[in-house]
Amino acid sequence: MDALRIRGATRLEGTIHVGGAKNAALPILCATLLSDGQSRLRNVPRLRDIETTSALLRFLGRNAVVTSPVVEVGAATGEIRPEAPYELVRQMRASVLVLGPLVARYGRAKVSLPGGCAIGARPIDQHLKGLEALGARIRVEHGYVIAEARRLRGAEIVFDLQTVTGTENLMMAAALAKGRTTLVNCAREPEVEELARVLNRMGAHIEGAGTDTIVIGGCDELEPFDHAVIADRIEAGTFIAAVGAVGGNVLLEQAPFDDLEPVVAKLRGAGMEIEREGEHMRVARERTISPVKATTAPHPGFPTDMQAQLMAMMCVAQGQSVLTETIFENRFMHVPELCRMGARIEVHNNAAIVDGVPRLSGASVMATDLRASASLVIAGLVAEGETVVRRVYHLDRGYDRIERKLAGVGATIERFTLEGPP
Ligand code: EPZ
Repeated sequence: MDALRIRGATRLEGTIHVGGAKNAALPILCATLLSDGQSRLRNVPRLRDIETTSALLRFLGRNAVVTSPVVEVGAATGEIRPEAPYELVRQMRASVLVLGPLVARYGRAKVSLPGGCAIGARPIDQHLKGLEALGARIRVEHGYVIAEARRLRGAEIVFDLQTVTGTENLMMAAALAKGRTTLVNCAREPEVEELARVLNRMGAHIEGAGTDTIVIGGCDELEPFDHAVIADRIEAGTFIAAVGAVGGNVLLEQAPFDDLEPVVAKLRGAGMEIEREGEHMRVARERTISPVKATTAPHPGFPTDMQAQLMAMMCVAQGQSVLTETIFENRFMHVPELCRMGARIEVHNNAAIVDGVPRLSGASVMATDLRASASLVIAGLVAEGETVVRRVYHLDRGYDRIERKLAGVGATIERFTLEGPP
C-alpha cells in the first residue's frame, strides 16, 4: 500500500502546472455515450477516477482508451450493455453520471445505487425525480436503479436543492429528449458550464449553464467531440493553501483564476498575495496567517472541496478561525488526524473552531477521503519532523502525482510502499 513521507518545509518556491479538472472530465466522458462516434478528451489528468470511468465505459461496450493526458472513446460497435455494476459504482459515486445518457440514448439503464460514502449519505433522489419528470419509469431493485423510457420528453424540473451531478445528469438526459426542458435551481459550478460547452459542441441546444436556470432544446442525435478540458480549480486551490500554510512564492501555471474567486477572496483575507500573471496565477505568503471565518456553499460560494485544505492552513494561523460545512454531513474526518499532529480544533455540529498554534508536529496519519488526504499533506508540510500519510489511494483519486508537483517547489515529500497493515 502506497504512503507519503513528508518533512516540514520552510518555503515553497517555483512553478506548478495545474492539470485538467477531474470533476469536469468525469461527466464529459459519460457524455460520450450520447453519440455513436469516436470522441477525444484532452488535458485529462492521470487519476484513478479517470481509469475507473474508462473501465465503466468499456464495461458498457464502448472502447475507452486512456493515453494520458488524452482519453479516446471509440465509436459504438456492438451491443451496448446499459448496466453499471456495483463493483465499479462503489469505487466512484460519479458513475451515476451514466444513468442519464444511457436512458436517453438506449431507452434503458440499470445502475447500481452508489451507497453511502465517507463524507455523507449522498442520495440521488434529485437525479431520479428529474428522470421521472422526463418520462422515465424508475424502479429500485436489489440495490440497482432501473430506468426505462421509449423516448424521454422535455419537462420543467425544479431541483429541491443544488446538486452538481444531478444538474449534469439531467442536462445530458434532456439533450436527447423530445422537446424543451427547463431545469430550475441548478448547480452553477464551472464544471457544469464546461459540460454544457461540450454538449453544445456535440450539437445540443443548451442555454443558461452557470446560472440557476438551464434551458435544453432536445435533439434527435448528437455528434462526437474533440475537446481539451478546463483546469482543475480544486487542485489549484489545494496548492494555494499549501503555499499559504508553508509560506513562499509559487507560479500556478494555467490556474483558472475566475473559477477560484471565492477561494482567492478568502485566502487574500488570510494574508496571501494572489495575482493574475497572464493565464497563470502568482501566489505568495510572506506575512503571518490571519484567521478566517468560512462557510462552504454551492458555487459561487466557498467550495466544500476546499474546506479541509483551508483548515490545514488555519491550524498555524495567528488566532481563531471558524470553518462551517453546510454541504456534507460528515466532512470533518481530517480533524482527529490534524489533532494528532498538534492542531487545536473543536467541532460543534457543523462548525470547526480552529485555534492556531505556532507549529504542528509530524506523525503517522490516515487518509480517509480525497480532500482530507490533501489536508494531511499540507499539515505535513508545516509540521516539525516526519509525517507519514497512509492510504494515499484516496489522494490518487483526485491528484495527479501531487508529491512530484510539491517536490518541484522545494517540499521534502516522497512516495513509498508501506509494508504491513494499511
Ligand atoms: C459533486 O458531487 C462533486 N463530485 C464533489 O466533489 C463535490 O464535493 C460536490 O459536487 C459538491 O460541490 C463530482 O462532481 C464528481 P451534490 P455531487 O449532488 O454531485 C445532496 C471531490 O472532492 N444531494 O452537489 O455528488 C448531497 O447529499 C468530490 O472531488 C441530495 O440530497 O454532490 C449533498 O449533501 C467530493 N440528493 C448535497 O446535495 C441528490 O439527489 C450536494 O451534493 C443529490 C445531492
